[in-house]
Amino acid sequence: MNRRSFLAALAAAAASAQNTLEDPHFPRYHFRPAKNWMNDPNGLIYWNGEYHMFYQYNPNAAYWGDMHWGHTVSTDLMHWKPLPMALYPDKPYDKDGVFSGCAVVHNGIPTLVYTGTKPETQCVATTSNNLRQFHKIEQNPVIDEPPGKVTGFRDPCLWQENGEWMMALGGGFPEVGGAVFLYSSKDLISWKYLHPLCQGEKSKTGHNWECPNFFPLGNRHVLLISAEPYRKVLYFVGHYENRRFIPESEGVMDAGGSLYAPQTFVDKDGRRTLIGWLTETRPEKEFVKAGWSGVQSLPRVFALRNDKTLGVEPHPNLRSVRDSWTGTGAQAEFEVMFPGARAKADLHVGSEALPISYDGSDLTVAGHTAPMKLDASEPFRLDIFVDHSVVEVFANSRVAMALRVYPSNSDPVHLNAPGAKVAAYRIPATVEYEIIARRGSP
Ligand code: FRU
Repeated sequence: MNRRSFLAALAAAAASAQNTLEDPHFPRYHFRPAKNWMNDPNGLIYWNGEYHMFYQYNPNAAYWGDMHWGHTVSTDLMHWKPLPMALYPDKPYDKDGVFSGCAVVHNGIPTLVYTGTKPETQCVATTSNNLRQFHKIEQNPVIDEPPGKVTGFRDPCLWQENGEWMMALGGGFPEVGGAVFLYSSKDLISWKYLHPLCQGEKSKTGHNWECPNFFPLGNRHVLLISAEPYRKVLYFVGHYENRRFIPESEGVMDAGGSLYAPQTFVDKDGRRTLIGWLTETRPEKEFVKAGWSGVQSLPRVFALRNDKTLGVEPHPNLRSVRDSWTGTGAQAEFEVMFPGARAKADLHVGSEALPISYDGSDLTVAGHTAPMKLDASEPFRLDIFVDHSVVEVFANSRVAMALRVYPSNSDPVHLNAPGAKVAAYRIPATVEYEIIARRGSP
């Protein structure tokens, strides 16, 4: 049996045997659909009082393949309602997958711009009925050729500039390294290639860049890319001049080993907000058997700090859903204030203990390390979210780390933080699912 048919057999067994919502590892306030495989968030947009999130989805199994755009909607970025699938791989130019992309408003009409495959080309779908109906345009694909030999050519990120649309596309030049290609257009249909917005070095930042995100922040611009083969999100802060981006500083956006292919958007109050795919960190055959894979992160808000590094915090709407802690369960938030600038704590999630420490220069969570410098006399602070198999840790408005953990029992979550002031909260389930039949029910 080859790998695909082995996985298909596992998936078939999972589909008939599982109610994923009874799985103790299944998250309840992080968005994901009830079943099957999900990866990148796509087309994040606030429109007419609602946040729309689309996502890469395989409707048939919990492994990657047959990419569609799933769709969910929220009024507060916390409570998510399922909507019918938005885009299917049903045209000659996208039959091998409707890949990642974004949503923009063009002449008053919310419009999706995505990558069709194979080969990778760029395509447009207009929408109607308040982003409930989708129409792939006749002129697709609107960009059908890359600028030479490339390692990838996908994941459009659009913005407007002096009355024109600009598009950043992820990819790379073989032997040179990952790159972001820059295009411009007046009408989203006819596009002109300009030059690389930014070019990486293969030995340092990988051979291919996926899911570019480019946006202004304070008096700088930020570029996020998901680097292959490292499977890490890198950020660059710098200047955007004459349609070229000149990075001044860079780093790993999330060192927790799970977040990938994030997308940013502007929330209704103007905050630059990010949601990213949290990959499973357990073996493929385990998640295929479980019948589900992939979770979206909590929304995070970016700010440019005085030292021109990227500041990050949990979205403030999280405060409006939290409840009082009952001491039981696996959906918790801990706000922790340490007396000084050095600290040690242990987070217990079921059978798993995750050590957390800060030594004045590095924050380490369960072996994942991120550099962090505090100001003189600034105390160390943590905001920790646990949602079954998902843990997100925020420190001092500077560092965010998402981790996955698969405990073998359901002992209540607790935090041991000697000497610290801890406020604990319960977070209720905020995601609605399509109803899945229980085993044995009609
Ligand atoms: C990133 C990615 C994108 C692509 C999509 C396909 O995770 O590989 O580059 O568009 O996923 O599902």
